[in-house]
Amino acid sequence: MNVAEQVSRSGKPAVVAHRGASAAVAEHTLAAYELALEQGADGLECDVRLTADHELVCIHDRTVDRTSDGTGIVSEMTLAQLRELDFGSWHTGGGPAEVLTLAELLTLTLDWRRPVRLFIETKHPVRFGSLVEQQLLSTLHDFGVATPPSADHSRAVVISFSSAGVWRIRRHAPILPTILLGETARVLGGSAATAVGATGIGPSVETLRMHPELVDKAAAAGRVTYCWTVDEEADVQLCADLGVRWIATNHPQKVRDWLVTV
Ligand code: G3P
Ligand code: CA
Repeated sequence: MNVAEQVSRSGKPAVVAHRGASAAVAEHTLAAYELALEQGADGLECDVRLTADHELVCIHDRTVDRTSDGTGIVSEMTLAQLRELDFGSWHTGGGPAEVLTLAELLTLTLDWRRPVRLFIETKHPVRFGSLVEQQLLSTLHDFGVATPPSADHSRAVVISFSSAGVWRIRRHAPILPTILLGETARVLGGSAATAVGATGIGPSVETLRMHPELVDKAAAAGRVTYCWTVDEEADVQLCADLGVRWIATNHPQKVRDWLVTV
């Protein structure tokens, strides 16, 4: 069974755990992703950044200040320095946790007992030029997921607010699904996604509420819609009604429960 078959059986949006089950447990930790998988998430979302020694780690912010017991800029720290910090205890759920690398998250995702798709968001590709995408493709290649037999079979989706970043992935790994994220209908309803060859668009839920026509417009161009971050029941209903394919949420269990009745 490929990932698309798994998702389309219900005809409802599939649930992507945004930074893991991040309302319950510290975001981007192994525990947050394991909980999301236990809760039945169809996909996992993570943000990736390059360290000073060019390792890809799963951290959202530019600095470690909010999500660890340390301070500093991720891109100026080595992986060894990040490993000395606790990324779990700042949150009320769970306990101490080490920084998670993309390789570690890929291992969890690919070894899970059912097909799961990993949505990998590249952060700040401009700062490192094309190095973020180079390292990402190299890692995906090591795990055998850089060249899936078809986009529907892919276990990895690269997502980004950077059109240049999406374009670089499409150029070097054209079969990999990609989603161009955006916060305005002007970007996502215009020609940007076509120009970079994105296979999907990723509006925020606030944008989708104001511009529900984006989903049909994308579908007419052969693109799926991935909506973030959907934590309210009314928005889950909206996404289901519109035919959104993937919804990213901090509450995967709640959203799965709501989807039963939509
Ligand atoms: O999944 C897309 C979404 O995560 C984009 O926003 O700031 O949470 O990375 P952010
Ligand atoms: Ca993200």
